[in-house]
Amino acid sequence: MPSDKYVLVTGGAGYIGSHTVLELVKAGYKPVVVDNLCNSSEEAVRRVGELTDSKIPFFKTDLRDKEGLDAVFKEYSIESVLHFAGLKAVGESTKIPLEYYDSNVSGTIVLLKTMQKYNTPNFVFSSSATVYGDATRFENMIPIPEECPTGPTSPYGHTKLIIEEILGDAAAADSNLKVAILRYFNPIGAHPSGRIGEDPQGIPNNLLPFVAQVAVGRRQKLQIFGNDYESKDGTPIRDYIHVVDLAKGHLAAMAKLDSVTGQDGQGYFREWNLGTGNGSTVFEIVHAFEKATGVKIPLEVVGRRKGDVVNLTAKADRAHNELHWQTQLTIEDACRDLWKWTTENPWGYGGKPE
Ligand code: NAD
Ligand code: UFG
Repeated sequence: MPSDKYVLVTGGAGYIGSHTVLELVKAGYKPVVVDNLCNSSEEAVRRVGELTDSKIPFFKTDLRDKEGLDAVFKEYSIESVLHFAGLKAVGESTKIPLEYYDSNVSGTIVLLKTMQKYNTPNFVFSSSATVYGDATRFENMIPIPEECPTGPTSPYGHTKLIIEEILGDAAAADSNLKVAILRYFNPIGAHPSGRIGEDPQGIPNNLLPFVAQVAVGRRQKLQIFGNDYESKDGTPIRDYIHVVDLAKGHLAAMAKLDSVTGQDGQGYFREWNLGTGNGSTVFEIVHAFEKATGVKIPLEVVGRRKGDVVNLTAKADRAHNELHWQTQLTIEDACRDLWKWTTENPWGYGGKPE
């Protein structure tokens, strides 16, 4: 239930954060955004304000800036934190791992200490299916349940798992702290208004943003990273989830945290997968995009990308049963909404570079 207090959204100018801020305002919550804008634009927050006819407090602050963060907690009475802020490119994390540990892990520690100082109880963390690594190394772990042993394969994945562990330890030691770990599968699409969406800097790493840039003429052709995997057409399987469904999952997690208390002197801690429960191959997604938009995507099959795993499909039952949340939108909806965002904002939030 929305209260008079505020919800701090770290990384709220980013892709998933901005969509979640929008859903928060629509549901009657009062978000405050903190973001250092290293991978985003303040324009996203402004547009969320425009869509909801509201003014969203925004602070251009790095999470590691202890005094800057403290000032936000001092000014606003914060009841819940949705923690999206962090670096997220798997490949980049292998090149600059220390930056990843510093921003993701150190940033989270500063945030948790500040929450403790101000007695803020609720924490929702953006984790990732990447913490599971290759789940096919075990029998019967596809679709992947939360009990699947973890085994991330990149520095980025390690930071996510380490943060989960820090949160588990912190909740065990603090009866006031309630933690929801949300392990996202593959978010895609954009808000149906076409006003907010994903705006990757440089060459997109992820499949759908790359496909959209090919479709709009910013890139020549899509490279398919391997067609020799064990799947029906040889390309890897992912659980693609519409970003608006994913955003709503955060409200379901907040409601859950409101309804629970810690026990035996300990706080509360639980993990949930946020996915659809259905897997699609790369070719299936590309064809869905072509069908939704009427645009043919030129492509070539090249070698495997290092670190890719064959199948990341969620077992989504826990979130369904315990959070009373499930996805409502389809891949076709996501492709249509991505296309609207891309055609109406072909250069994202900025203008065309000179
Ligand atoms: P994003 O890059 O669009 O958003 C992250 C935001 O955090 C950006 O606005 C960035 O400027 C900000 N940020 C980064 N480091 C910061 C710091 N030290 N202090 C303050 N702000 C900082 O990424 P996204 O796709 O919206 O992802 C949000 C979260 O979800 C991330 O934690 C990511 O790891 C996680 N996640 C994303 C995916 C995905 O495929 N997009 C999948 C699983 C998990
Ligand atoms: N792919 C291509 N060509 C491209 C880009 C991707 O063929 O240009 C393929 C990949 O090989 C993979 C699939 O498309 O098989 C999906 O790749 P993405 O890069 O879009 O997504 P990943 O599954 O590799 O990773 C994403 C996020 C991670 C997150 C994970 C959770 O980038 O941060 O989803 O499932 F952890």
